[in-house]
Amino acid sequence: MTELKNDVFLRALLREPVSRTPVWIMRQAGRYLPEYREVRSQAGDFMSLCRNPELACEVTMQPLRRYKLDAAILFSDILTVPDAMGLGLHFITGEGPKFKNPVQTADAIRALRVPDVEGKLGYVFDAVRTIRRELNGEVPLIGFAGSPFTVGTYMVEGGSSREFPTIKALAKESPEVLSHLMDIVAETTIEYLNGQIEAGAQIVQIFDTWGAALAPDDFRRFSMASMQKIIDGLIREKDGRKIPVILFTKGAGPLLSDLSETGCDALGVDWTTDLATAREYVGDKVALQGNLDPATLRESPEVIRQGVADTLASYGNGPGHVFNLGHGITPDIDPDHLGALVDAVHELSPKYHE
Ligand code: CP3
Repeated sequence: MTELKNDVFLRALLREPVSRTPVWIMRQAGRYLPEYREVRSQAGDFMSLCRNPELACEVTMQPLRRYKLDAAILFSDILTVPDAMGLGLHFITGEGPKFKNPVQTADAIRALRVPDVEGKLGYVFDAVRTIRRELNGEVPLIGFAGSPFTVGTYMVEGGSSREFPTIKALAKESPEVLSHLMDIVAETTIEYLNGQIEAGAQIVQIFDTWGAALAPDDFRRFSMASMQKIIDGLIREKDGRKIPVILFTKGAGPLLSDLSETGCDALGVDWTTDLATAREYVGDKVALQGNLDPATLRESPEVIRQGVADTLASYGNGPGHVFNLGHGITPDIDPDHLGALVDAVHELSPKYHE
């Protein structure tokens, strides 16, 4: 195994001392980069890009060539899991993800089974191995999956949704059916993330983009419980190193306190909660990752630098902070603006670690 040359991200996730705050960006490989759009058109469509390990590796590496980032993230999608279950994922330009066979009735949900993960998602594990080889120990690699509730919203609604009418009706009218859906997706996700870890992922992040659309009791019963189940089933150490787990529930707010008890190592925080407040919710139990408003990247480099300064100051002194946006970078951002953000983190963060 090649030695890891930059472990500042791993150390911060474990709340160990570091000399500066590590930084990576959600959706760092994506459409804001012209070189991504080039490879994406070469691949034909988004899923063909995900299924091609060499091209998935290439787009994973692109942001690392431009910016001094402290982690790579596997290029894939959270919806590969329901695709592997036979739902028929495709992307329609301007409309986002769609499923040919959504599971909208209790009978369809009860009929769902854990798929052959190695057989159906082996292309993801191939991509992980290819990326690890190409990274050559420069920075660690993050693997990821969606939370069962977030993935479930797409499976049940058939695509993106604003109000989540179908899955919310299930929570109230047929909670045991929704629990079955959560269990099947959680069991599949355990195999899927452990496969990524076996293939070389050194950290895993669970994206819970929509869990906080539920009222707190339902959030705990469905979204948080299913993430807890995943954490309990994950490989937590490999090659003598801990495999940190990051949970990112967008809009978690005070629920960060509950989430800090799940056994994860770090929590993602979106921009609607100050890091200082988040720190009060979680104490010293977990590290925090975040949380500059992605909209700040539309502003001038000076405004971006001030945003970075404010975010670092909000977390304050000591270990346990990973710099990131509060959600993914959007396709309209000028790539040079992300450079201003990354440089500012490198310049302004050391004083919080003296
Ligand atoms: O962060 C990274 O660089 C790694 C890659 C990554 C993608 N999607 C690539 C992608 C990750 C971690 C995801 C996670 C994901 N996918 C989430 C959770 C995180 C979040 O942002 O909330 C969700 C909800 C999805 C589902 C999904 N995939 C949607 C709704 C869309 C359409 C988005 C849009 O704006 O059109 C996708 C497609 C997708 N996944 C793209 C990328 C780069 C754009 C596809 C393209 O090139 O056309």
